[in-house]
Amino acid sequence: MSDLSVELTAPNGKKYTQPTGLFINNEWVASSKGNKITSINPTDETEIVSVHAAEPEDVDKAVAAARAAFKGPWRDMASTERGDLMYKLSQLVEQNKEVLATIETWDNGKPYSVALNEDLAEVAGCLKYYAGYADKIHGQVIDTTPAKLAYTIREPIGVCGQIIPWNYPLAMAAWKLGPALACGNTIVMKAAEQTPLSILVFANLIKEAGFPPGVVNILNGHGRVAGAAIAQHMDIDKVAFTGSTATGKEIMKSAAINMKNITLETGGKSPLLVFDDADLDQAVKWSHVGIMSNMGQICTATSRILVQETIYDKFVSTFKKQVQEVSKVGDPFKDETFHGPQITKAQYDRVLSYIETGKSEGAELLMGGEAYKNVGEGKGFFVSPTVFTNVKSSMRVFREEVFGPFAVIVSFKDEEEALEKANDTTYGLGSAIFTKDIVKAHRLARKIEAGMVWINSSNDSDFRIPFGGVKQSGIGRELGEAGLEAYTNKKAVHVNLGTWL
Ligand code: NAI
Ligand code: MG
Repeated sequence: MSDLSVELTAPNGKKYTQPTGLFINNEWVASSKGNKITSINPTDETEIVSVHAAEPEDVDKAVAAARAAFKGPWRDMASTERGDLMYKLSQLVEQNKEVLATIETWDNGKPYSVALNEDLAEVAGCLKYYAGYADKIHGQVIDTTPAKLAYTIREPIGVCGQIIPWNYPLAMAAWKLGPALACGNTIVMKAAEQTPLSILVFANLIKEAGFPPGVVNILNGHGRVAGAAIAQHMDIDKVAFTGSTATGKEIMKSAAINMKNITLETGGKSPLLVFDDADLDQAVKWSHVGIMSNMGQICTATSRILVQETIYDKFVSTFKKQVQEVSKVGDPFKDETFHGPQITKAQYDRVLSYIETGKSEGAELLMGGEAYKNVGEGKGFFVSPTVFTNVKSSMRVFREEVFGPFAVIVSFKDEEEALEKANDTTYGLGSAIFTKDIVKAHRLARKIEAGMVWINSSNDSDFRIPFGGVKQSGIGRELGEAGLEAYTNKKAVHVNLGTWL
């Protein structure tokens, strides 16, 4: 047997076959140079397995496969049949959700119940949603004069490079595959080097569902090698990326080489506003979910909590109680765990260093503020849920994305100051408003500089609703009907019905 797959037993006892190669043309192949990425279990820092890491030559092969599929079987397939394949894929995900969720938890550290009931439900749901769109993507007939017939065709863009992050490994894949496939594109996807495993098991389901070879190609690889090769590739028509703002800017520059179409979904420092006329209990619960879910590793995390000064003290004490009661730190395979480890040592170090920054800037540490060493034998990248109060707008902990279980609480006097503080950021991804005053809520929803506004909730995103940012949080939209815009071109066809020349 080659080293393109290995039998594994996960910490929860689940046995399965883990592919370890590159998935090109519906086949497993080795990396051209034999380089590998070793996947780490963030819960105990053990090595899980090594997988092949793509080099630029491998990206070339994947692009060639995607191009051939685009020109051939995929483009010629009836749209309903394309939808059927996607629907089949969604069903296969549903049937294999336990093993896929197990790998997410093992490789990423997120609680198993979350991986199963949120991530995998989202993957299956998103693919099913876009399967339904495959044969409902229409152009228009446009009336001008009797001598002209004009219409538009919504064409797929072509070969799409998709570069995804590690915080929701399979869900981020589904968000990008769903609309791209529904519109008839072919794909070269690169998973994040921190979470290379689940996507390879998913790749087998693509083949099993019956997709023609080359429609979806999946590579693991390093950002600066395989990711950069995708962004710079002359035969890729579009690049879609989710990750940091810094990398998003690099991808934008690289994509200029052949003027690729781009969709970027990048960082955030999203505000959550609590007014004194809000349902405090609800505001506290959603504030907790909004920053502490997924160990704070969410691009839309509402990490800046702005509270009206009249209820500031009450909010702070109730929020602290909520975090203490709900954010149970522990082994992510245990049912009672809400809060697993950060994804990597690098992210763990990053969160700890922001804790030092907060302290040295004079913010007041309300809770947490340290590594958590009481899980198993004291290993793993656990950080206690951390909250700073008395934070000023000038502080780095107010301005910079931490991407961890790290909330800052700031007070405001009135609506005007709330809005000014909310918008005092280079980012513009999510935002949340808590008030019972519907007029104020909708007035603010218009004025907040963000791609998404939650009124009396936070982060309950949904694959049927557009998702994306303004300012330095990104370009373009994913999900919902808007997600289709990102994967089609409109071609205009003019037909001369007369003989007037
Ligand atoms: P990253 O943005 O560097 O990585 C995301 C993806 O981009 C990965 O697949 C990576 O391999 C790829 N990549 C990296 N450099 C590339 C390049 N030059 N060309 C093409 N692809 C490239 O993020 P990283 O380093 O994993 O995390 C750093 C910070 O980024 C986090 O602390 C967080 O603030 C932010 N982040 C935001 C995410 C989001 O959902 N918006 C997800 C992950 C990270
Ligand atoms: Mg890992």
